[in-house]
Amino acid sequence: MKIAVTAVSGQLGAAIAKRAIEEFGKENVVGTARTPKKAKSLGIKVFKADYNSKEDFATAFQGIDAVVLISGMGNPNDRIGQHQNVINAAKESGVKKIVYTSIIGKPGNSTFDAIVNSNRQTEVDIIASELEYAIGRNGLYIEPDIEYLDNYIKEGKIANSAADGKCSYTSRDELAIAYTNLLANSSLNGATYNLLGESITQTELVDYFNKYFKTKLVYESMTPEDYLSWQQKQNGDFLGSVIAGIYQKIRNNEFELDSDFEKILGRKHKTMDEIFKEYSK
Ligand SMILES: NC(=O)c1ccc[n+]([C@@H]2O[C@H](COP(=O)([O-])OP(=O)(O)OC[C@H]3O[C@@H](n4cnc5c(N)ncnc54)[C@H](OP(=O)(O)O)[C@@H]3O)[C@@H](O)[C@H]2O)c1
Repeated sequence: MKIAVTAVSGQLGAAIAKRAIEEFGKENVVGTARTPKKAKSLGIKVFKADYNSKEDFATAFQGIDAVVLISGMGNPNDRIGQHQNVINAAKESGVKKIVYTSIIGKPGNSTFDAIVNSNRQTEVDIIASELEYAIGRNGLYIEPDIEYLDNYIKEGKIANSAADGKCSYTSRDELAIAYTNLLANSSLNGATYNLLGESITQTELVDYFNKYFKTKLVYESMTPEDYLSWQQKQNGDFLGSVIAGIYQKIRNNEFELDSDFEKILGRKHKTMDEIFKEYSK
């Protein structure tokens, strides 16, 4: 089976490509990237393909059996059409199956919901394409919090508007293993899976950092209004409101869901203890 993974210049795309290479062999995996030179270290053929260009993907998908579509980073209105470019190019190029990396999230009215909704529309578009498919809805990756640790230490705290809300986290590597299985195992086709591990509060997240990274962080709960305005000052209106919307959804337990991980891999998702232990080495 010949596989193409999109956005292999990004961290999730690269992690999935690496696992797919182990499973299917280097000669059977290609990547696409808006910026191919960033994906050089993967050692596979990487086609230049921007989500805004269906033609780019039509070229990349010649002879490909299955495509992993990594959700884009554009604003929600643009994303739907960008993802349609990939789906339509796949269909027209004779690709048989699409595996899509979507996002978890119960419906709500946060400033992140437009992104959740755009992912849901792509799910609908994939099912309507009549290609074989498997859709994963990803929990929140833990890696961005770990990468931000130096800032948390400087601030002495994790401060956001999640309050006591629970969130189901995952890691990019656990996702890469799950997506490779969704590619390999056709008995999993035709369904949508929640790919996530334990649900924890932000106070529990702080406890994991303190335990494994020997920090002395505390959790500070902010009002949604204060957190939104702080985020917008830090990251600008668009990104600030996206991030604030994520914590608004956590506050409302809209990112707390049951996991389908075991259905895909026959084992439970790694625990937060296991993941933190690995990252703290
Ligand atoms: N579940 C979560 O916690 C979570 C967190 C963050 C993001 N996400 C979603 O999951 C996706 C993958 O995450 P990640 O960690 O791999 O993010 P990442 O490392 O920031 O990578 C994003 C990728 O999207 C590519 N991209 C953006 N716009 C594009 C376009 N117009 N055409 C082609 N490629 C484009 C980027 O290409 P360049 O290298 O050219 O910039 C990059 O390869 C994200 O795009 C986002 O939708 C989920």
